[in-house]
Amino acid sequence: MVNDFPLIEEVIYLNTASIGLVPIPVLESVKEFIEKTSIRGTVYLSEEVEENIFEDLRVNSANLLGCSVDEVAIFNSVTEALNSIAWALRGGGKIVSTNIEFPTVVYPWMRISKNKDWKVVLIDSKDYLIDEDELLMAIDEDTLSVVISHVEFLTGQRFNLKALAEKAHEVGAILIVDGIQATGCIPVDVKRDDVDIYITGSYKWLIGPFGAAVAYIRHDLCRELEPGLVGWRSVKNMWSLNIRESMDYVDSARKFEYSSSAYEAKVAMSKSIEYLTRIGIDNIYSYNMKLTKYFMEELVNIENIEVVTPVNVKERGSIVTVKVKGLNPTTIKRGLNSKELKNGGRDIEFSIRRGLARFSPHFYNDKEDVDEVIERLRKLFSRYGT
Ligand SMILES: Cc1ncc(COP(=O)(O)O)c(C=O)c1O
Repeated sequence: MVNDFPLIEEVIYLNTASIGLVPIPVLESVKEFIEKTSIRGTVYLSEEVEENIFEDLRVNSANLLGCSVDEVAIFNSVTEALNSIAWALRGGGKIVSTNIEFPTVVYPWMRISKNKDWKVVLIDSKDYLIDEDELLMAIDEDTLSVVISHVEFLTGQRFNLKALAEKAHEVGAILIVDGIQATGCIPVDVKRDDVDIYITGSYKWLIGPFGAAVAYIRHDLCRELEPGLVGWRSVKNMWSLNIRESMDYVDSARKFEYSSSAYEAKVAMSKSIEYLTRIGIDNIYSYNMKLTKYFMEELVNIENIEVVTPVNVKERGSIVTVKVKGLNPTTIKRGLNSKELKNGGRDIEFSIRRGLARFSPHFYNDKEDVDEVIERLRKLFSRYGT
Protein backbone atom coordinates (compact mmCIF):
# COMPACT_ATOMS: atom_id res chain seq x y z
CA MET A 1 0.00 0.00 0.00
CA VAL A 2 2.76 2.47 1.01
CA ASN A 3 4.34 2.02 -2.43
CA ASP A 4 1.15 3.33 -4.02
CA PHE A 5 1.78 6.79 -2.48
CA PRO A 6 5.41 7.69 -3.24
CA LEU A 7 5.08 11.21 -1.82
CA ILE A 8 4.84 10.00 1.77
CA GLU A 9 8.53 9.00 1.66
CA GLU A 10 9.45 12.67 1.36
CA VAL A 11 6.51 14.61 2.83
CA ILE A 12 4.33 14.27 5.93
CA TYR A 13 1.18 14.80 3.95
CA LEU A 14 -1.63 16.06 6.20
CA ASN A 15 -3.66 17.80 3.53
CA THR A 16 -6.29 15.39 2.22
CA ALA A 17 -9.05 17.90 3.03
CA SER A 18 -7.45 19.93 0.25
CA ILE A 19 -6.29 17.26 -2.24
CA GLY A 20 -6.04 13.52 -1.61
CA LEU A 21 -3.10 11.47 -2.89
CA VAL A 22 -4.03 9.34 -5.89
CA PRO A 23 -2.69 5.76 -5.66
CA ILE A 24 -0.37 4.73 -8.51
CA PRO A 25 -2.67 1.92 -9.79
CA VAL A 26 -5.52 4.45 -10.17
CA LEU A 27 -3.22 6.82 -12.00
CA GLU A 28 -2.26 3.98 -14.35
CA SER A 29 -5.94 3.49 -15.23
CA VAL A 30 -6.22 7.18 -16.20
CA LYS A 31 -3.13 6.99 -18.37
CA GLU A 32 -4.39 3.84 -20.06
CA PHE A 33 -7.77 5.38 -20.79
CA ILE A 34 -6.31 8.62 -22.19
CA GLU A 35 -3.90 6.64 -24.33
CA LYS A 36 -6.59 4.37 -25.74
CA THR A 37 -9.06 7.16 -26.54
CA SER A 38 -6.40 9.53 -27.87
CA ILE A 39 -4.67 7.02 -30.11
CA ARG A 40 -7.67 4.95 -31.22
CA GLY A 41 -10.61 7.42 -31.20
CA THR A 42 -13.96 5.72 -31.81
CA VAL A 43 -12.21 2.44 -32.58
CA TYR A 44 -11.80 2.25 -28.79
CA LEU A 45 -14.44 4.70 -27.56
CA SER A 46 -17.34 3.35 -29.61
CA GLU A 47 -20.83 4.77 -29.16
CA GLU A 48 -21.70 1.87 -26.89
CA VAL A 49 -18.58 2.29 -24.74
CA GLU A 50 -19.16 6.05 -24.50
CA GLU A 51 -22.83 5.58 -23.61
CA ASN A 52 -21.88 3.27 -20.75
CA ILE A 53 -18.73 5.07 -19.66
CA PHE A 54 -20.19 6.20 -16.30
CA GLU A 55 -21.71 2.85 -15.36
CA ASP A 56 -18.83 1.41 -13.28
CA LEU A 57 -18.65 4.65 -11.31
CA ARG A 58 -22.42 4.63 -10.88
CA VAL A 59 -22.40 1.10 -9.42
CA ASN A 60 -19.44 1.81 -7.13
CA SER A 61 -20.96 5.11 -5.96
CA ALA A 62 -24.31 3.46 -5.24
CA ASN A 63 -22.48 0.92 -3.05
CA LEU A 64 -20.49 3.67 -1.36
CA LEU A 65 -23.55 5.79 -0.55
CA GLY A 66 -26.06 3.02 0.10
CA CYS A 67 -28.56 3.80 -2.64
CA SER A 68 -29.78 2.27 -5.88
CA VAL A 69 -27.89 2.66 -9.15
CA ASP A 70 -30.78 4.63 -10.69
CA GLU A 71 -30.38 7.29 -8.03
CA VAL A 72 -26.81 8.25 -8.97
CA ALA A 73 -25.90 11.04 -11.41
CA ILE A 74 -22.34 11.69 -12.53
CA PHE A 75 -20.93 15.22 -12.67
CA ASN A 76 -17.61 16.99 -13.15
CA SER A 77 -17.49 18.72 -9.78
CA VAL A 78 -19.50 19.23 -6.63
CA THR A 79 -20.05 22.85 -7.61
CA GLU A 80 -21.53 21.85 -10.96
CA ALA A 81 -23.82 19.26 -9.35
CA LEU A 82 -25.08 21.73 -6.75
CA ASN A 83 -25.82 24.36 -9.37
CA SER A 84 -27.73 22.01 -11.67
CA ILE A 85 -29.74 20.62 -8.74
CA ALA A 86 -30.40 24.07 -7.26
CA TRP A 87 -31.81 25.35 -10.56
CA ALA A 88 -33.98 22.22 -10.68
CA LEU A 89 -35.66 22.89 -7.36
CA ARG A 90 -39.24 24.15 -7.56
CA GLY A 91 -41.17 26.37 -5.16
CA GLY A 92 -40.23 29.26 -2.93
CA GLY A 93 -39.07 29.62 0.64
CA LYS A 94 -36.05 29.65 2.88
CA ILE A 95 -32.76 27.98 2.01
CA VAL A 96 -31.12 27.22 5.34
CA SER A 97 -27.33 26.91 5.61
CA THR A 98 -24.53 28.34 7.74
CA ASN A 99 -22.06 31.22 7.57
CA ILE A 100 -19.10 28.85 7.96
CA GLU A 101 -19.80 26.77 4.86
CA PHE A 102 -17.52 26.27 1.89
CA PRO A 103 -18.59 28.97 -0.65
CA THR A 104 -19.84 26.40 -3.18
CA VAL A 105 -22.47 25.18 -0.74
CA VAL A 106 -24.05 28.63 -0.46
CA TYR A 107 -23.26 30.64 -3.60
CA PRO A 108 -25.57 28.79 -6.03
CA TRP A 109 -28.54 29.58 -3.76
CA MET A 110 -27.50 33.21 -3.46
CA ARG A 111 -27.24 33.44 -7.24
CA ILE A 112 -30.52 31.68 -8.01
CA SER A 113 -32.44 33.58 -5.32
CA LYS A 114 -32.12 36.58 -7.69
CA ASN A 115 -34.40 34.66 -10.10
CA LYS A 116 -36.55 32.68 -7.69
CA ASP A 117 -38.56 33.43 -4.61
CA TRP A 118 -35.89 32.19 -2.20
CA LYS A 119 -34.35 33.65 0.92
CA VAL A 120 -30.95 32.36 1.95
CA VAL A 121 -30.74 32.12 5.75
CA LEU A 122 -27.31 31.49 7.23
CA ILE A 123 -26.93 30.33 10.82
CA ASP A 124 -24.04 32.08 12.58
CA SER A 125 -21.15 30.04 13.88
CA LYS A 126 -19.69 30.55 17.33
CA ASP A 127 -15.96 30.07 17.56
CA TYR A 128 -16.09 28.46 14.09
CA LEU A 129 -18.68 25.83 15.11
CA ILE A 130 -22.41 25.53 14.49
CA ASP A 131 -24.81 24.77 17.30
CA GLU A 132 -26.84 21.93 15.79
CA ASP A 133 -29.89 22.72 17.92
CA GLU A 134 -29.89 26.26 16.57
CA LEU A 135 -29.69 24.87 13.06
CA LEU A 136 -32.60 22.52 13.72
CA MET A 137 -34.63 25.41 15.13
CA ALA A 138 -34.10 27.48 11.99
CA ILE A 139 -35.80 24.79 9.88
CA ASP A 140 -39.46 25.83 9.87
CA GLU A 141 -42.62 25.74 7.74
CA ASP A 142 -41.15 28.37 5.39
CA THR A 143 -38.09 26.23 4.62
CA LEU A 144 -37.70 24.82 1.13
CA SER A 145 -34.30 23.23 1.59
CA VAL A 146 -31.48 22.72 4.09
CA VAL A 147 -28.07 22.71 2.43
CA ILE A 148 -25.07 21.69 4.46
CA SER A 149 -21.74 19.86 4.39
CA HIS A 150 -21.70 16.47 6.04
CA VAL A 151 -18.26 17.40 7.41
CA GLU A 152 -17.21 21.05 7.44
CA PHE A 153 -14.13 21.91 5.38
CA LEU A 154 -12.70 24.33 7.97
CA THR A 155 -13.24 22.62 11.30
CA GLY A 156 -14.14 19.03 10.48
CA GLN A 157 -17.43 19.46 12.37
CA ARG A 158 -19.81 16.65 11.36
CA PHE A 159 -23.58 16.97 11.42
CA ASN A 160 -26.21 14.43 12.40
CA LEU A 161 -27.84 13.96 9.01
CA LYS A 162 -30.67 11.81 10.32
CA ALA A 163 -31.78 14.50 12.77
CA LEU A 164 -31.56 17.20 10.09
CA ALA A 165 -33.50 15.09 7.57
CA GLU A 166 -36.18 14.32 10.14
CA LYS A 167 -36.70 17.99 10.94
CA ALA A 168 -36.61 19.01 7.29
CA HIS A 169 -39.20 16.40 6.34
CA GLU A 170 -41.42 17.33 9.27
CA VAL A 171 -41.86 20.78 7.71
CA GLY A 172 -41.95 19.63 4.08
CA ALA A 173 -38.38 20.67 3.23
CA ILE A 174 -35.57 18.60 1.75
CA LEU A 175 -32.01 17.97 2.94
CA ILE A 176 -29.15 18.49 0.48
CA VAL A 177 -25.71 17.41 1.67
CA ASP A 178 -22.21 18.12 0.35
CA GLY A 179 -20.22 15.06 1.40
CA ILE A 180 -16.85 15.76 -0.21
CA GLN A 181 -15.14 16.05 3.19
CA ALA A 182 -16.77 12.83 4.43
CA THR A 183 -16.96 10.07 1.81
CA GLY A 184 -13.85 7.92 1.73
CA CYS A 185 -13.18 8.31 5.44
CA ILE A 186 -16.67 8.07 6.96
CA PRO A 187 -19.21 5.33 6.16
CA VAL A 188 -22.25 6.89 4.50
CA ASP A 189 -25.76 5.46 4.27
CA VAL A 190 -28.16 7.92 2.65
CA LYS A 191 -31.16 5.62 3.10
CA ARG A 192 -30.53 5.05 6.82
CA ASP A 193 -30.20 8.81 7.33
CA ASP A 194 -33.09 9.62 4.96
CA VAL A 195 -31.08 12.25 3.07
CA ASP A 196 -32.73 13.59 -0.13
CA ILE A 197 -29.64 14.60 -2.09
CA TYR A 198 -26.02 13.74 -1.29
CA ILE A 199 -23.18 15.02 -3.47
CA THR A 200 -19.52 14.12 -3.32
CA GLY A 201 -16.36 14.65 -5.34
CA SER A 202 -13.36 12.62 -6.40
CA TYR A 203 -10.25 14.46 -5.35
CA LYS A 204 -10.14 14.57 -1.56
CA TRP A 205 -10.89 11.59 0.72
CA LEU A 206 -11.92 9.47 -2.27
CA ILE A 207 -8.32 9.82 -3.55
CA GLY A 208 -9.21 10.21 -7.22
CA PRO A 209 -7.97 12.81 -9.68
CA PHE A 210 -9.84 16.07 -10.33
CA GLY A 211 -12.85 16.17 -12.64
CA ALA A 212 -15.46 13.80 -11.24
CA ALA A 213 -18.33 14.05 -8.77
CA VAL A 214 -21.47 12.06 -8.08
CA ALA A 215 -24.87 12.89 -6.65
CA TYR A 216 -27.42 10.65 -5.01
CA ILE A 217 -30.86 12.05 -5.84
CA ARG A 218 -33.75 10.28 -4.10
CA HIS A 219 -35.78 8.50 -6.77
CA ASP A 220 -39.21 10.09 -6.19
CA LEU A 221 -37.64 13.53 -5.84
CA CYS A 222 -35.64 13.04 -9.04
CA ARG A 223 -38.85 12.41 -10.96
CA GLU A 224 -40.11 15.90 -10.04
CA LEU A 225 -36.90 17.74 -10.89
CA GLU A 226 -35.95 19.24 -14.21
CA PRO A 227 -32.13 19.56 -14.40
CA GLY A 228 -30.60 23.03 -14.51
CA LEU A 229 -28.09 21.87 -17.13
CA VAL A 230 -29.19 19.74 -20.08
CA GLY A 231 -27.74 18.35 -23.31
CA TRP A 232 -27.42 15.34 -25.56
CA ARG A 233 -26.75 12.88 -22.72
CA SER A 234 -29.87 13.94 -20.74
CA VAL A 235 -32.36 12.00 -22.85
CA LYS A 236 -33.45 8.36 -23.12
CA ASN A 237 -31.80 7.70 -26.45
CA MET A 238 -28.67 9.81 -26.40
CA TRP A 239 -27.53 8.63 -29.82
CA SER A 240 -30.76 9.54 -31.60
CA LEU A 241 -29.41 13.10 -31.80
CA ASN A 242 -32.81 14.02 -33.05
CA ILE A 243 -34.34 17.21 -31.71
CA ARG A 244 -37.90 16.63 -30.59
CA GLU A 245 -40.50 19.12 -29.46
CA SER A 246 -39.82 18.30 -25.84
CA MET A 247 -36.89 16.59 -24.21
CA ASP A 248 -37.48 12.95 -23.40
CA TYR A 249 -35.45 12.79 -20.18
CA VAL A 250 -34.00 9.52 -18.92
CA ASP A 251 -36.19 8.04 -16.22
CA SER A 252 -33.48 8.13 -13.53
CA ALA A 253 -30.84 10.41 -12.03
CA ARG A 254 -28.99 9.97 -15.34
CA LYS A 255 -31.08 12.84 -16.72
CA PHE A 256 -28.72 15.19 -14.82
CA GLU A 257 -25.82 14.07 -17.06
CA TYR A 258 -25.74 16.23 -20.13
CA SER A 259 -22.47 16.14 -22.06
CA SER A 260 -19.13 14.56 -22.79
CA SER A 261 -16.43 15.41 -20.27
CA ALA A 262 -13.03 14.26 -19.03
CA TYR A 263 -14.23 10.66 -19.01
CA GLU A 264 -10.90 9.46 -17.64
CA ALA A 265 -11.65 11.25 -14.35
CA LYS A 266 -14.83 9.20 -13.98
CA VAL A 267 -13.06 5.95 -14.84
CA ALA A 268 -10.42 6.84 -12.25
CA MET A 269 -12.91 7.82 -9.55
CA SER A 270 -14.52 4.43 -9.96
CA LYS A 271 -11.13 2.74 -9.50
CA SER A 272 -10.40 4.90 -6.45
CA ILE A 273 -13.64 3.82 -4.81
CA GLU A 274 -12.72 0.19 -5.55
CA TYR A 275 -9.28 0.78 -4.03
CA LEU A 276 -10.82 2.20 -0.83
CA THR A 277 -13.50 -0.48 -0.69
CA ARG A 278 -10.81 -3.17 -0.79
CA ILE A 279 -9.28 -1.64 2.35
CA GLY A 280 -12.78 -1.13 3.76
CA ILE A 281 -14.35 2.25 4.57
CA ASP A 282 -15.15 0.99 8.09
CA ASN A 283 -11.48 0.14 8.61
CA ILE A 284 -10.38 3.52 7.27
CA TYR A 285 -12.89 5.24 9.53
CA SER A 286 -11.71 3.57 12.71
CA TYR A 287 -8.04 4.07 11.75
CA ASN A 288 -8.49 7.78 10.93
CA MET A 289 -10.57 8.44 14.02
CA LYS A 290 -7.98 6.79 16.27
CA LEU A 291 -5.16 8.73 14.65
CA THR A 292 -6.96 12.07 14.89
CA LYS A 293 -7.99 11.34 18.50
CA TYR A 294 -4.33 10.75 19.37
CA PHE A 295 -3.38 13.92 17.48
CA MET A 296 -5.94 16.01 19.39
CA GLU A 297 -4.89 14.54 22.75
CA GLU A 298 -1.28 15.50 22.05
CA LEU A 299 -2.23 18.98 20.80
CA VAL A 300 -4.17 19.95 23.93
CA ASN A 301 -0.94 19.54 25.92
CA ILE A 302 0.69 22.34 23.96
CA GLU A 303 0.02 25.62 25.70
CA ASN A 304 -0.29 27.86 22.65
CA ILE A 305 -2.63 25.59 20.75
CA GLU A 306 -6.39 25.62 20.98
CA VAL A 307 -8.16 22.78 19.19
CA VAL A 308 -11.22 24.06 17.32
CA THR A 309 -12.47 20.68 16.01
CA PRO A 310 -15.07 18.96 18.23
CA VAL A 311 -13.52 16.21 20.37
CA ASN A 312 -16.49 13.84 20.16
CA VAL A 313 -15.86 11.28 17.41
CA LYS A 314 -19.47 11.44 16.20
CA GLU A 315 -19.23 15.19 15.74
CA ARG A 316 -16.18 15.29 13.50
CA GLY A 317 -14.44 13.89 10.44
CA SER A 318 -10.73 13.28 9.92
CA ILE A 319 -9.82 16.96 10.12
CA VAL A 320 -7.99 18.56 13.05
CA THR A 321 -8.09 22.35 13.04
CA VAL A 322 -6.28 24.50 15.57
CA LYS A 323 -5.94 28.11 16.58
CA VAL A 324 -2.36 29.04 17.31
CA LYS A 325 -1.90 31.81 19.84
CA GLY A 326 0.97 34.24 19.54
CA LEU A 327 2.18 33.27 16.07
CA ASN A 328 0.74 34.11 12.70
CA PRO A 329 -0.16 31.19 10.42
CA THR A 330 2.54 31.87 7.83
CA THR A 331 5.21 31.82 10.53
CA ILE A 332 3.94 28.45 11.71
CA LYS A 333 4.03 26.92 8.26
CA ARG A 334 7.47 28.29 7.50
CA GLY A 335 8.74 27.53 10.99
CA LEU A 336 7.64 23.89 11.00
CA ASN A 337 9.47 23.34 7.72
CA SER A 338 12.56 25.39 8.57
CA LYS A 339 15.93 23.65 8.16
CA GLU A 340 16.56 23.82 11.87
CA LEU A 341 13.33 22.13 12.90
CA LYS A 342 13.27 19.67 10.02
CA ASN A 343 16.71 18.45 10.87
CA GLY A 344 16.96 16.47 7.63
CA GLY A 345 13.41 15.13 8.01
CA ARG A 346 10.37 15.44 5.79
CA ASP A 347 8.37 18.59 5.02
CA ILE A 348 4.99 18.87 6.73
CA GLU A 349 2.17 19.69 4.31
CA PHE A 350 -1.05 21.15 5.72
CA SER A 351 -3.38 24.09 5.07
CA ILE A 352 -3.95 27.47 6.59
CA ARG A 353 -7.64 28.35 6.26
CA ARG A 354 -9.12 31.57 7.64
CA GLY A 355 -6.10 31.97 9.92
CA LEU A 356 -6.43 28.46 11.37
CA ALA A 357 -4.07 25.54 10.84
CA ARG A 358 -5.91 22.56 9.35
CA PHE A 359 -4.37 19.08 9.44
CA SER A 360 -6.21 16.32 7.62
CA PRO A 361 -4.67 12.84 7.92
CA HIS A 362 -5.92 9.88 5.88
CA PHE A 363 -5.16 6.15 6.02
CA TYR A 364 -1.71 6.71 4.45
CA ASN A 365 -0.60 8.67 7.52
CA ASP A 366 0.56 7.15 10.80
CA LYS A 367 1.42 7.91 14.43
CA GLU A 368 4.98 8.76 13.45
CA ASP A 369 3.67 11.63 11.29
CA VAL A 370 1.65 13.00 14.19
CA ASP A 371 4.55 12.67 16.64
CA GLU A 372 6.80 14.63 14.27
CA VAL A 373 4.27 17.49 13.98
CA ILE A 374 3.86 17.62 17.76
CA GLU A 375 7.60 17.63 18.37
CA ARG A 376 8.20 20.41 15.84
CA LEU A 377 5.35 22.50 17.24
CA ARG A 378 6.90 22.24 20.71
CA LYS A 379 10.31 23.24 19.34
CA LEU A 380 8.76 26.11 17.39
CA PHE A 381 7.11 27.58 20.47
CA SER A 382 10.22 27.24 22.58
CA ARG A 383 12.24 28.96 19.83
CA TYR A 384 9.88 31.90 19.76
CA GLY A 385 9.65 31.89 23.55
CA THR A 386 5.86 31.95 23.47
C1 LIG B 1 -17.14 21.29 1.36
C2 LIG B 1 -16.58 21.46 -0.02
N1 LIG B 1 -17.41 21.45 -1.07
C3 LIG B 1 -16.95 21.60 -2.33
C4 LIG B 1 -15.60 21.76 -2.57
C5 LIG B 1 -15.13 21.97 -3.98
O1 LIG B 1 -15.75 21.08 -4.82
P1 LIG B 1 -15.51 21.12 -6.40
O2 LIG B 1 -14.13 21.59 -6.63
O3 LIG B 1 -15.71 19.68 -6.80
O4 LIG B 1 -16.54 21.99 -6.98
C6 LIG B 1 -14.70 21.78 -1.50
C7 LIG B 1 -13.26 21.98 -1.73
O5 LIG B 1 -12.48 22.27 -0.86
C8 LIG B 1 -15.21 21.61 -0.19
O6 LIG B 1 -14.40 21.62 0.86
